[in-house]
Amino acid sequence: MMQKDQFLRVHGGFRLEGEVFASGGKNAALAVLPAALLTDEPCVIENLPMIDDMFVMRDIFLALGAKVEFSKNAMRIEAKGLRTHAVPELLAHKLRASYYFLGALLGRVNESVVPFPGGCAIGSRLMDQHIKGFEALGARVYEDSEGISIEGDGLRGSVIYLDIPSVGATINIMLAAALAKGNTEIVNAGKEPHIVDLANFLNAMGASVRGAGTDTIRIKGVPRLHGCNYAVIPDQIETGTLMIAAAATGGDVLIRGALPTHMEALTAKLLEMGVRVDDTGTGEDSIRVRSEGRLRRVNIKTQPYPGFPTDLQQPMSALLSAAEGVSVIQETIFESRFRHLEELRRMGGKFTVKDRIAVIEGVKLLTGCPVLATDLRAGAALVIAGLMAQGVTEVNNIHYIDRGYEFIERKLNALGAKIERLERIGPLEIAAGG
Ligand code: EPU
Repeated sequence: MMQKDQFLRVHGGFRLEGEVFASGGKNAALAVLPAALLTDEPCVIENLPMIDDMFVMRDIFLALGAKVEFSKNAMRIEAKGLRTHAVPELLAHKLRASYYFLGALLGRVNESVVPFPGGCAIGSRLMDQHIKGFEALGARVYEDSEGISIEGDGLRGSVIYLDIPSVGATINIMLAAALAKGNTEIVNAGKEPHIVDLANFLNAMGASVRGAGTDTIRIKGVPRLHGCNYAVIPDQIETGTLMIAAAATGGDVLIRGALPTHMEALTAKLLEMGVRVDDTGTGEDSIRVRSEGRLRRVNIKTQPYPGFPTDLQQPMSALLSAAEGVSVIQETIFESRFRHLEELRRMGGKFTVKDRIAVIEGVKLLTGCPVLATDLRAGAALVIAGLMAQGVTEVNNIHYIDRGYEFIERKLNALGAKIERLERIGPLEIAAGG
């Protein structure tokens, strides 16, 4: 899908209206797929988003020697007779979640090697809590300039207190502990919906994981796991991005297959801004977003779930850039997640940033111009800004967007947006940012 020199030409001023389906969760899929390595029986994972990250996952499974089929949003993985316990460097660098192969391979074959993972450059993204967890389970962890290698001779359950409720560390420890001997307790665990999704998948494979979604996850190690079919949850962040896009255009959009309970933090903020958010009242999983006129300012502080998700901070900042009044965003999870504001500034946005706090002075209207996506959610923010802006916004570096959003322009165009995916001819020329 991704081509290096493609860009999105977003024509501003079109109102979004109609129905759209939420795709399967990227971060849920990235947590669930590696767990298929914990059995030699086939697992079929359904409702996967067709995004670049899924193709990288498929390639990692193939490189490890698993049999994989991937089509129509489902991946069948049969991890019998693995060839190696090392993830190739080129693939590891393509996505953050390659680090989940540390826990999954350790759990399955007692050793793993993963070069330092890639992913969005939004902060230092340390791994000390992952390593602490592996060591507590009895593994030996070696780190050098190339990456991380781990060895264990039969893992044993342990109590692991996380200094911060890291999503990645919680998932990695769950993957490693499912087949360990005895009981593991992860205290101060992450509570994100995709952590619960992984627990449900592991339990469907025969594991004993309790308490996912609370501060303490208890895992009773089992001797073996079996294959199964499993569908991942809808994408919380794609749903949120669509909700914000609907609000940004004074739209009326029904997102089907979305889980309102996962969206409570965003919904609360949108309501505060004057947006109408409700379900269809029919009991089905869906969210309707309606907005009209200029929205009001709000303050936001990103926090681990159920707080306001850092992944929606960037799209939300685009919405706030044209809201009435001054909004303050405090980013507590990642230290470099405001780089997109420089791009929004090119479009006429007014911001000051100091450390982890951004102050946004809402302007009446943004103006379209060429901009650069600096990471995945920055790309989504710029598309939303383009929908609101006067004139044409050219969003470049869209390989970031294609990593995490399934056909973003097709979904938005089906709702009435006017976005073209074009190939660049000649060099990219963008004036220096303000
Ligand atoms: N941290 C540590 N030590 C650790 C682990 C994390 O200090 O051992 C710090 C990080 O440096 C960061 C904070 O803790 O400042 C949060 O990190 P966390 O481990 O929770 O995040 P992650 O696993 O690196 C996942 C998602 C991100 C999402 C965050 C927070 C995946 C593949 N990535 O990252 O998703 O922002 O959780 O919810 O699931 C995205 O989808 O755009 C994205 C960046």
